[in-house]
Amino acid sequence: MTTTSRDSFTGKFGVIAAAAGSAVGLGNIWRFPYVVGENGGGAFLLVYILFIFAIGIPVMVSELLIGRRSQKNVFGAFRTLAPDKPFFMIVGIMGVGAAFMILAFYSVVAGWTLEYTYMAIGDNLLDKSSAELSAFFESFSESTAGPIGWMVLFMTLTAGIVIGGVKKGIERYTKILMPILFVIIVVLCINSAMLPGAGEGFAFLFKPDFSKVTGSVILEALGQAFFSLSIGMGVIATYGSYIQKKENLLNTAISVSIADTLIAVLAGVAIFPAVFAFGINPSAGPGLVFETLPNVFNQMSGGYLFSVAFFLLLVIAALTSSVSLLEVVVAYFSEELKMNRKLATVIAASVITGLGVVCVIYDKVFTFFDKTSSNVLLPLGGIFIAIFVGWVLGKAKTKDELEAHGGKARLVGFLMIILKVIAPIAIGIVFLNGIGLL
Ligand code: PFF
Repeated sequence: MTTTSRDSFTGKFGVIAAAAGSAVGLGNIWRFPYVVGENGGGAFLLVYILFIFAIGIPVMVSELLIGRRSQKNVFGAFRTLAPDKPFFMIVGIMGVGAAFMILAFYSVVAGWTLEYTYMAIGDNLLDKSSAELSAFFESFSESTAGPIGWMVLFMTLTAGIVIGGVKKGIERYTKILMPILFVIIVVLCINSAMLPGAGEGFAFLFKPDFSKVTGSVILEALGQAFFSLSIGMGVIATYGSYIQKKENLLNTAISVSIADTLIAVLAGVAIFPAVFAFGINPSAGPGLVFETLPNVFNQMSGGYLFSVAFFLLLVIAALTSSVSLLEVVVAYFSEELKMNRKLATVIAASVITGLGVVCVIYDKVFTFFDKTSSNVLLPLGGIFIAIFVGWVLGKAKTKDELEAHGGKARLVGFLMIILKVIAPIAIGIVFLNGIGLL
């Protein structure tokens, strides 16, 4: 029985919607296609899906149970569950640091999305040729005033929601809006698939060419899996602390991971046929989605409405993720440093906005934050989270937590093997190999 006065999510759909709201975001629709494009397509996709299921789901369950068992922010969670193992508090701090880093560049991309929403509303996207769209993205993303203005607006919205608190702020939006985004992406997929030359895009995405798989491709796939699932840094642990005892954590992790992967793959299906049909370079980098999708809207009937709805919903998907990132920092500041929630939010959001400005001005910082968070911080966080649940928390407590909803926890033995041995070793090898040390 819990007698805490902590805010909590209401019911099963609320929990899944909030966790899925964190997982589904720019990572699926902006980052996934651009990283797939840079890493050769089909083979990357296979490795990615393997990581989601073999490592992502076990790490997500671990985070959920760390959060729910401790009822604390990520730092406090490790301290409460293992007071004699200060090392893991460093992992908590690392997670808070990662939140700063991710949100800094994430808010910049969300700012681009706001600009595209604005352009779509003013009907300024549909009259552009493919070459003009690419040129527009380039000149916009290289400018400073516009991207900074939108980024500041986005961070203000994020902070506003976080100040409102978890249940009122986060849960309400996700429940209704994510299903609508899903439907729009499906419509985009259909339109993209009908473009002349779409076949090449499908082949790129679904026909694995294993000669393209290198150590760094595998690490990118792992990093993308962690980024997309929001795992490895305490977001899911923080949300886990708001989940009621009756919820089944394993089912939550599985549902969220499947929904997240489905949306990423659908985004790929919407984008790659168009990439090839319009002669865009699949390894164009972070601009890929912004340069590609407006071409699809141009070609389809109802393109105006769909473009407005799509970019608007993408902003909202980004918000439900950015809120989860900011929440990690705010929960830490308010519970550990005893700051009031409002002040904590304002301070964290201001510092992150400052870092975001640096990302806008210096491309290299943007790329450094983007790659370092996914390919270094999250995988390392993942190793320690797996080790923590596998070796420190142990089987009995894990089983107890997974059974807390009243049912019987199956698969605990299997989960423990993954957490104790397979995940740490696999992540370790992929990481060391990917950075060229193995
Ligand atoms: N998973 C989010 C997305 O795919 O857009 C981004 C994200 C949120 C990454 C929270 C990491 C995180 F902790």
